[in-house]
Amino acid sequence: MNYPDLKKARIRTDKEVEYKENPMVSGTKFLEKKYFLRTYGCQMNEHDGEQMASILEHLGMSACDDLEKSDVIVLNTCAIRENAHDKVFGYLGRIKHLKKTRPDVIVAIGGCMSQEEGVVENLKKHHPYVNIVFGTHNIHELGSMLLDAASEKQDIEVYSIEGDVYEHIPYKRASEITAWVNIIYGCDKFCTYCIVPYTRGKERSRHLDEIVSEVEALKNRGYMEVTLLGQNVNAYGHDLKEKVEFSELLEAVAKTGIPRIRFVTSHPWNFTDKMIEVIAKYDNIMPYIHLPLQSGSDRILKLMGRKYTKNEYLDLFHKMKSQIPNVSITTDIIVGFPGETESDFESTLEVVEECKFDGAFTFIFSPREGTPAAKMKDDTPLEEKEERLKRLNERINFYSKESNKRLVGHITPVLVLGESEKDSTKVYGYTDTMKLVNVKAPKNTIGKIIDVKITDAKSFSLDGEINEKIHS
Ligand code: 5AD
Ligand code: SF4
Repeated sequence: MNYPDLKKARIRTDKEVEYKENPMVSGTKFLEKKYFLRTYGCQMNEHDGEQMASILEHLGMSACDDLEKSDVIVLNTCAIRENAHDKVFGYLGRIKHLKKTRPDVIVAIGGCMSQEEGVVENLKKHHPYVNIVFGTHNIHELGSMLLDAASEKQDIEVYSIEGDVYEHIPYKRASEITAWVNIIYGCDKFCTYCIVPYTRGKERSRHLDEIVSEVEALKNRGYMEVTLLGQNVNAYGHDLKEKVEFSELLEAVAKTGIPRIRFVTSHPWNFTDKMIEVIAKYDNIMPYIHLPLQSGSDRILKLMGRKYTKNEYLDLFHKMKSQIPNVSITTDIIVGFPGETESDFESTLEVVEECKFDGAFTFIFSPREGTPAAKMKDDTPLEEKEERLKRLNERINFYSKESNKRLVGHITPVLVLGESEKDSTKVYGYTDTMKLVNVKAPKNTIGKIIDVKITDAKSFSLDGEINEKIHS
């Protein structure tokens, strides 16, 4: 048994990162059994879920989307805000019920919530029917933990460590068209509200040649798009023995010739001119940047530990807009950070009015146990925070629709990902600028980049029709 320890999880040393081969386990205990896997949270977690699925299938299981009919249940959890916890504990209610009639079902909880002390205490005390708790640092052990699992004993293996890098991880990828590729794990920024540096360890980059060969292999298998993943993609490479810049990695990935490259998430703090130059230079690097603002108030940004001011953010934003043709920029904003006043909030609104973001994810501050902001005095009533969120969303949605409306009548390339769920005469896909489009087009366009004439704009999507030319 190993329990999480948030104090340990905070520690950063200059201990060298170990690069290890990913171990795979096999066994016959689960042959022909069914697994139910549910993933919550960010793209990083989705991608971890693809690793978990691969481990489960390696043991001979097949996926099942009916909880009641599954033999193994895995919840891949998220800890970013309290409502992510609530969803998981809500789901555990259903599982508890199922365990009463089928005690042989094995339940495993992984992901970021498992890295939290309070959560594991809660699972031990109130959810003893959960068989396995594993963390973000030992996903590769899920297979062996399952093989060892006995229904009467809870096995908890969560490591609060800086972390290693595993290579040649097998994934059961959710799509055959777009793929995620990890480039840097962990986070060292320690924004005061954020639990991620505690749940995912220190910043550790994969070697450039490993990333490039993964992208090449994906391209050879017919993948059309890769999204390079990291909590801070632009911190890539600073921790490697031979330092590499994110711009160099981007350029090397662009040269593989894979049709589309995206990357998330960028931090406004160390986004260099060279990165902007490379994004502008290569046609296969998509003109789309997710650039979290969090707040437009310098006082709050400082309390958040974000390392930039409102003006520095705006300068970077305008530089991107002027140097990357047709770029779309989206953001994340937190309202109701401890001590945020109406005037702080208005500074955030000012940035929104100036940047006219293509889209944004907006959140009410959620205190995370163990983070500095959770201990800060917070006397703004929830109703006031909700009212600020509503005002903010109204402006965000307005500008999102405006940016969509500007595309009406234009022809734009769309990578088609699948059949529309609502209308079988339509397919859906994304523009280079990451806008969702429902297109009147035949199904044989799936997996291809097609020219689409945009006919209508909504707040969160576009409508369009195929405009003859198919690129590839
Ligand atoms: N409360 C509210 N939102 C948060 N985020 C991260 N931590 C918190 C928190 N404690 C938001 C940030 C981040 C996004 C992924 O989630 O905006 O960019
Ligand atoms: Fe969290 Fe800040 Fe790291 Fe993003 S940069 S994961 S918000 S600590």
